Amino acid sequence: MTVTTTNQQLTDLSADAIVLGIHSDAPLSGPAEEFNRASGDLLARLIESKEVTGKKCDTATLLAPPGIKSRLVLVVGLGPKETFDRGVAFRSASAAAKTLAGKERGRVGFFLANDWPAEMVEAAVCGSVVGCVGQDLYRSKKNRFPIGEIVWGGIDPKAASRGEILGDAVNLTRRLVNEPPSEMYPESFAAEATTVAAAAGLSIEIWDQARLEKERCGSLLAVARGSSRPPRLVILKYGGDPANSAPLALVGKGVTFDSGGLSIKPTDGMKTMKCDMAGAATVLGAMQGIARLKLPVNVLGLCGLVENMLSGNSYKLGDVLRARSGKTIEVLNTDAEGRLVLADVLDVALQHQPAKIIDLATLTGACIVALGNDVAGLMTNNQSWADAVKSAGDATGEPLWQLPMFAEFGEQIRSEVADIKNVGDGRWGGAITAAKFLEEFVAGKPWVHLDIAGPAFLESSKPWLDAGGSGFGVRTLVEIARSSQC
Ligand code: BES
Ligand code: MN
Ligand code: ZN
Repeated sequence: MTVTTTNQQLTDLSADAIVLGIHSDAPLSGPAEEFNRASGDLLARLIESKEVTGKKCDTATLLAPPGIKSRLVLVVGLGPKETFDRGVAFRSASAAAKTLAGKERGRVGFFLANDWPAEMVEAAVCGSVVGCVGQDLYRSKKNRFPIGEIVWGGIDPKAASRGEILGDAVNLTRRLVNEPPSEMYPESFAAEATTVAAAAGLSIEIWDQARLEKERCGSLLAVARGSSRPPRLVILKYGGDPANSAPLALVGKGVTFDSGGLSIKPTDGMKTMKCDMAGAATVLGAMQGIARLKLPVNVLGLCGLVENMLSGNSYKLGDVLRARSGKTIEVLNTDAEGRLVLADVLDVALQHQPAKIIDLATLTGACIVALGNDVAGLMTNNQSWADAVKSAGDATGEPLWQLPMFAEFGEQIRSEVADIKNVGDGRWGGAITAAKFLEEFVAGKPWVHLDIAGPAFLESSKPWLDAGGSGFGVRTLVEIARSSQC
């Protein structure tokens, strides 16, 4: 899969297919209008007969009429003109690529851009790269065949290459999440991170079990203890700002499999728990994207990697852990492990004196109850930092919604025997009590917690994306690093 650009007319490009876009409520314009003219009003007649609707992500594939050098034409809906934004640009290009990637195609021309601003072009190019890839890693008979050459018509080659970098970053995150837990465990994730770091020009440090012990990461190590796979902490550094400004720290939950530990999950809850490292995978994808885009910022990426398992050595209910920060934690549910991992990783992040922190975690089922599968929960100790992160999510089309952090929720994690306990009193408000727990480990630094338990992993496919890891959050993190806000 490569992305190229062309200044050729859409009529002249020899390709297996060309892609055009139309709005549901606006007259044809740009490439779609050109095509309509060249084809003797074909598109206008298809719209009139309601064969082609322009509804968001609807696709229709036609045999190209005479006068068009390509074999097929795919028309994708861009929805109403009023609500068209970067998120829709991403999704519609991705839907088109996903449809065409159902069969082998050597070359596909995308003629979607129509006086779009550069960020919109990038989002669409990103979508065309993301839509090509499904969850075929271990299927002998593939469902998706990544398009050989994706040719974008009439766009700036620089925007195309930035879009490709974004798409690669999202696909990296998706692949890591889609790998089964037999393949993706703390050591193998760290090995992937090493490869990514070397190729993208990031520096990397990996803490093994011995180093984690030396660093007194007692909270993370307790979770890891039940597994025969040793834990790892990956620290990635990107120095794009020569002025040596304090870095933005990105922290990811990397539980490569969450069985629940002794508080074991039932089968239904456990079967998708390879996705519990999506926070760490999102951090790695974003770090790759930020480095390849050469953004003028300093960013740290920290991934806390453990497997939460059951064994004679598992941590237990009633255990009292001492976190790296010195705080003591009473364990009352071994399935509330993500916050225990993050407690120590956040403390390591603080040591690097970051200006601001964002953590990403598939942290609670409660967040899915609150917000559903498409929206991530946002919790913070700093409203202006939260506003900046929220607007980056809005801009990229990755919806974030803020949940409150009233002090009362913090009361719930007070413990009789230790400084805090790892679960609230009941199940209600569980996304917030989890965030209140994390807040104990950020020492008042501007911090945003994104609970991505819902959107990180799709149980069924969407018109624009196959099921499995979604890469949710990667585009938002890159957007934050791009805006001067960090
Ligand atoms: N990894 C899960 C949360 C999760 C659930 C992620 C569904 C993705 C989809 C997390 O470690 C967990 O088990 N949380 C518990 C917390 C509870 C024990 C306080 C939960 O949500 O039930
Ligand atoms: Mn759990
Ligand atoms: Zn978990």
